[in-house]
Formats: sequence, structure tokens, C-alpha cells
Amino acid sequence: MIKESNQSEIKNKNVLLRLDLNVPVFKGKILSDFRILKSIPTIKNLLKNNNKIIILSHFGRPKEGLYDESFSLKIIINNLENLLGEKVTFSKDWVNGVNFNGNNIVLCENVRFQKGEKENLPSLAKQISCLGDVFVFDAFGVSHRKEASTYGISDYLQTFSGDLLKNEVMNANKLLSSEKRPMTTIISGAKISTKLTLIRKLLSKSDNIILGGGILNTFLMAMSHEIGDSLVEKSFIEEAQEILNCADSKKIIMPLDVMVSSDTSLDNPEIRDISMVQSNDKILDIGEKTINRYIKVISESSTIFWNGPLGYVEKSPFDNGTIKISKAIASSGAYSVVGGGDTIPIIEALNLQDKFSCLSTGGGSLLKFIEGEDLPILDKLGMYRI
Ligand code: 3PG
Repeated sequence: MIKESNQSEIKNKNVLLRLDLNVPVFKGKILSDFRILKSIPTIKNLLKNNNKIIILSHFGRPKEGLYDESFSLKIIINNLENLLGEKVTFSKDWVNGVNFNGNNIVLCENVRFQKGEKENLPSLAKQISCLGDVFVFDAFGVSHRKEASTYGISDYLQTFSGDLLKNEVMNANKLLSSEKRPMTTIISGAKISTKLTLIRKLLSKSDNIILGGGILNTFLMAMSHEIGDSLVEKSFIEEAQEILNCADSKKIIMPLDVMVSSDTSLDNPEIRDISMVQSNDKILDIGEKTINRYIKVISESSTIFWNGPLGYVEKSPFDNGTIKISKAIASSGAYSVVGGGDTIPIIEALNLQDKFSCLSTGGGSLLKFIEGEDLPILDKLGMYRI
């Protein structure tokens, strides 16, 4: 059912279009419409060829088989219509058939409300496939999941890769094969457990590695530094030590100082040299000396991959390191790829989107892509990785 050809060949059809419109939301407000924005060209190109479009997407992780308003995709309809400049019909009950109601686009309610979506139930995939003439998969952000709407439908309908997907794969391959040296990788975030394979893989590929967040704390602890009451995964200390013992570990650029708070309300930030952290401190960001050390490395780099904020960006001034590193990458002139949902809103708030070579819509999917793990629908579409 796979046709390796261009989505521009699709004309006068009812197109089932799988997007990743899983936008970050806080207290009922969309924090970033980046994923919607990046999906617009595909929708417009399909409309130009006289197609009608049935959009499928997930939103969050609701309990399957149950409707729950807090996971309703209704939340994105205004942004989608405004960015498209087109009316969109929202369909709550769509699985047995959709009504376009005079428009050319239908947005179906969260596909994860359907029982069988997560486990890729063949009967659900088949039922959904009956809604369209062809299937376009353009949801790079969820391409690491083998679900009914991300994979199963391709068993029943002629399937095309969308333009966004092709771009994402091209950019990620470009990063992995980049000969522009030095290459610097910045990996940060709360948990080392989710990024161990990535760190190992990129340690061999990169010339410099910068670590941040809970991941850095775990490495600091593995090096017997005092980290006080900071976020850490103690059960991964051994893995961190193993990495530190390997030959490539000299590529890790160690911090000189950190920003801490010993206050339960996280007020009264203080900068401490890395050897001066106290037992009641929480490390919440990197310090100025570290920032300058990292900025120097970044400014000398020709390829940069960045995943994850470097500090507790939810509360100022612990966003200081992330903001300064973001600005440094933007002005470095390097080929720069950023992935991971948490980092994009920061770049958008600084209005630096255009200064990066590629802002990926992928979070987990991009990391899996780089790690070399299976991305079922990409493999089926014959979209190869380097
Ligand atoms: C993401 O936000 O990373 C994607 O939309 C995938 O979402 P999931 O992890 O809930 O499958």
C-alpha cells in the first residue's frame, strides 16, 4: 500500500492526513503553535490540488476509549483556522464518517479517544482508512509510535510521505552526516535515563558535549561532586561513571560554576563554584563562568545539535543559561538543529526562530531517529537514515 512518490501528485481526492498537532498547553492556553504552523504548507499544497482533507492527530495522553474534554483537539481550531486562512469543520464523532459541512477541511477529534489506537488494532485502522481515498503521513513528531493512525492505516490505503516529514528526515540526516567540524552537542533535561543511548551515540559523533539539567547533576554526582538537594537519578550513577571512563569522555565540557537556591520557594539565587555547592543547595542553572566557557565552544562550532533547556526555565533567573546559550547558537553561524518540545517555546519567546538552521517538530521521535532506533512508518515508507 506504500507509494514512494510526491504528495503533489494527489489530486481531487479525499485525503486522510495524519499530523502531529500535539501542542504544549498550560492552564488551557497554547504555549506554542509551532507544530500547527509547520503543518500549514502541507495542508495548503493539498488544497491547491483540489483535495478535501480529513486531519487526524492525537493530543496528550488521554485514557483510551473515553472522551475527556481536557484532551479535546477543539483547543487548536482557532489557531489552525487563523494560520490557514480557511474555515475548518470540527468533527467530534468521526470514525464512522465525516461531514465537511461546506468546508474543505475536517479536523477530527483526538484520535487517542478511539479504543485500539495505541495498540494499532487492525479493525480500527481499517475503519479509519474507509474515510479517505489516500493516506498522507506528515506527523514526524509521532513517527516513533506504531499506532493505528501512525502506521495501521498504511496497510489499507495508498500512503504518501508528507512534505514536513521529508524535510525533517532530510535535516536529521544532514546533522548525522555533517562534515562541518567541530560538532557540538548540547543534551539537557531532567532525566538521564531517557537520554543515555543518545548521549552514548552522540559522544562518538561529536567533538564537544555540553550537558545540563538533571543529566548534568547525575554526572557531577558520578564524579563525587556535592550536588546538595538537586534533581538527580541515583540509579544511573554507574552508567554515568561508565561514560566518564570511556575515551570520548574528554569531549564533555565540564561546568565551572552553577546557580543554586537553598530556599524551598527557590528564591535568593546564588552562584557557586562547582566545588562549593552546599548540602542544602538545589542546582537550578549553570553559572556565568560556565556560560562563557560554553559560549566559546559554541562560537567555534560549525555544527550544533541542541536538545533540552539547561536550567529550571520555568522560573527566572534560572532561565539565564538557556537564554544566553540560545542567543549564542543563533549568532554562531553554525548548522544548528534543535529538537524537543521544551526548547522551541524559549527560542520563539526570544524571536530567534529564523536564526537556527532547523527547528524540529520532533521530540522523542527525533531522538529515536538519531539513536538509530526503529521508526516503523519511516521504515515502511522507505525513508532511510544514515
Ligand atoms: C510528542 O509530543 O513528543 C509527540 O506528539 C508524541 O507524543 P507521545 O509521546 O504522547 O506519543
